[in-house]
Amino acid sequence: MTRYLVTSALPYINGMKHLGNLVGSMLPADVYSRFLRLEGEEVIYICATDEHGTPAEIAALEEGLDVRTYCDIQHQRQKDVYMRFGLSFDYFGRSSSPQNHELTQHFFRMLDKNGFIEEREIQQIYCLDDERYLPDRYVIGTCPHCGYDMARGDQCENCATLLDPSELINPRSAVSSSQNLELRKSRHLFLKLDALASEVERWVKSHQDWPRLTKSIALKWLNEGLQPRCITRDLSWGVPVPKEGFEDKVFYVWFDAPIEYIGATKEWSDADPDACDWKSWWYDAKDVYHVQFMAKDNLPFHTIVWPATILGTREPWTMASYIKGFNWLTYYGGKFSTSQGRGVFMDQALQILPPDYWRYFLMTQAPESDDSDFTWELFSAVVNKDLAGTLGNFVNRTLKLAESQFGNTIPAGGIWGPQEDELLENCKNSMTDYRSALRKFEFRKAVLALKQLWSHGNVYIDARAPWNLVKTQRDEAALVVRTCINLVRTYALASSPIIPFTSEILFDSLGMDAQERKADLDQALDLNALKAGREFEVPPILFRKIEADEVTKLQEQFGGVSE
Ligand code: MF3
Ligand code: ZN
Repeated sequence: MTRYLVTSALPYINGMKHLGNLVGSMLPADVYSRFLRLEGEEVIYICATDEHGTPAEIAALEEGLDVRTYCDIQHQRQKDVYMRFGLSFDYFGRSSSPQNHELTQHFFRMLDKNGFIEEREIQQIYCLDDERYLPDRYVIGTCPHCGYDMARGDQCENCATLLDPSELINPRSAVSSSQNLELRKSRHLFLKLDALASEVERWVKSHQDWPRLTKSIALKWLNEGLQPRCITRDLSWGVPVPKEGFEDKVFYVWFDAPIEYIGATKEWSDADPDACDWKSWWYDAKDVYHVQFMAKDNLPFHTIVWPATILGTREPWTMASYIKGFNWLTYYGGKFSTSQGRGVFMDQALQILPPDYWRYFLMTQAPESDDSDFTWELFSAVVNKDLAGTLGNFVNRTLKLAESQFGNTIPAGGIWGPQEDELLENCKNSMTDYRSALRKFEFRKAVLALKQLWSHGNVYIDARAPWNLVKTQRDEAALVVRTCINLVRTYALASSPIIPFTSEILFDSLGMDAQERKADLDQALDLNALKAGREFEVPPILFRKIEADEVTKLQEQFGGVSE
């Protein structure tokens, strides 16, 4: 039987992630993993913080912390907010772990042994006051094209021209503003992507079922021709390079980051050997289907560089079976921007509303075939209509009516008839659509099918009008109420990949035990699962509406209505 290994791009350690980051990788990976578990599949979902690189060093410097302490704090902060969002990682690791260091050095040694590493001399900017080499984007100066005086060495943010730091007028360090810069030569190691190009191409082309976005980015890179890529840096924070003459260098963050997918799994094994055998997932694992989730800027690394790294080891490490890439979620048509305070960060989101509001809304807007846009108007419209209006309303009126007419036990009586048959048929169809969309990684389609499933309940209860039936045909009303309560169970089970917290509230209110909560999606369609006589409680309002004045306030608070 196939085992599923799910990963989502490892978030950089520096700074809280925003909703665009969430919907572009971790959230769909979580929905998919939860869905597979519900289907009874064997699945592990692995993620970690990506902790090396200059941004982490500099952020630590700014906060007056040594970089390890900074990473300890930030890792905990990120992990905490992911837990609160219900991201169900089986393990959430750290790329700075000893496991990743060891694996990264192993990968390098194999590549070196197999002739895929070469040495080259390159020039880099060194700051005498900072006593360090500066990556391009940490050199700031005046743009030679537009005169913008805060242009970065890799690109001018004002006129978008790509730059080389040597072109900047009055260059200075972004770390200290020091102008005491000089060009220095040093020797670095390069991964010979060119020598692996044809193998990578064959591998990419053997995956015709990948999404168009994934394939097109991979082919674009391949068609432009692969060049050797520098994989070492003159920094101290990172994985040391195990080669003579390179002892004072570390690997480039993008070399060790994807290896941490494996590293994190090993961290888990080392911490709990009974729970996980990392090697069975990652090495010579013929029964493993490996799915990777990421935003499109990560696609070149995962379709080209990371597979080339694996292929060059000549060892049977698990490679992606499927790569799901996402476009951008924009905020009022522009970028989410940390520096400009535009958009919503994950911790802020949870101060506004509970996680399921966000999870559901974001999945309805998953930027699958194109970018999609966050606005507070759209957010409130979707929440009010789908969550409060369709699901919340159905649950609330069903259970309220049941309680007021029959007390807190599911009522007996009535005979299943054609209208119930029709309801069941409709639910079966929507459930089939839902499952097949999720199997195919079509998240927007899946959410639409789920919404359909929810709406069958409202159509049924409106047509049957048990509030009238109860006056003349009490048994018939009991049947309708019992069927609707069973639908609440169906909804709780089916919705759990997307709104898991709400599902728990519903399970609780229906008094379902641990075993009952484990029903699969076939069993979820049993509209007679909950029998007459079972007690239930009416849960508090599941979803509240977001009113227009609140929308205005949120726009003011988070900025960017028109830009
Ligand atoms: N940290 C990178 C980002 O946020 C993603 C790294 S994915 C990995 O864009 F494969 F390298 F781990
Ligand atoms: Zn410019």
